[in-house]
Amino acid sequence: MKIYSFDTLPSTNTYCVENFDNFENQDIIMAEHQTAGKGRKGRKWSSEIGGLYFTMILKPSEIKTEQVSSLTQIMAISVCKAVRYLGASAYLKWPNDVLCKGKKFCGILSEAVIENNIFKGLVIGVGINIEQKNIVSEKPFTTLQEMGLTVSKSGLVEDIISNFNMMQKQDFVKDFKKLCPTINKEIIVDGKKGVFEDIDNCGRMILRTEKGREVIIAGDVQF
Ligand code: BTN
Repeated sequence: MKIYSFDTLPSTNTYCVENFDNFENQDIIMAEHQTAGKGRKGRKWSSEIGGLYFTMILKPSEIKTEQVSSLTQIMAISVCKAVRYLGASAYLKWPNDVLCKGKKFCGILSEAVIENNIFKGLVIGVGINIEQKNIVSEKPFTTLQEMGLTVSKSGLVEDIISNFNMMQKQDFVKDFKKLCPTINKEIIVDGKKGVFEDIDNCGRMILRTEKGREVIIAGDVQF
């Protein structure tokens, strides 16, 4: 596993997808700044200097198929644990945001790398607000600085990766549920009301609604 650092890239995810064959499993590509940072659902990810932006390469021989869809959540747990270890009361918002006091400070975007219909692997991109000044976001956000933390970016990345490597061998569902305060609570997901009963071993939400249980793959949670 190697870490490659750039001053600026359009997007560490895009760079990893486009240069996938040149990297080894678990290589990390970091940028100080992104000019076209990508978020979920086609949103932009504000990527000024002062934040942490990195992407991890995962190659199939190292991924158990049943783990593919849960790896993004394993990364979210890894970030959440690393930040809690620094002393902040970070928690998870399903499917894979990391928040503190109702404000998001970390987002994760995974992309599958497919060529000629063949699944070649996965890139998992992580954006963490650290001390940027001009963040643009539709939703409430915070930074590690505002949370009272002073961090070394390289130290934080190392802690996240070490958590990620330990987590893959464990039952991530248990950890996710421990760090997600909306479990067993009434929530609304993309307009649908119900009780967030569980997550399955692929990381999908089991929502108990008036009509019965529904399996939700992705969505925006309100509570
Ligand atoms: C989200 O919408 O919450 C996901 C944000 C993911 C942002 C990270 S920053 C590093 C990597 N490169 C990107 O272009 N996006 C991800």
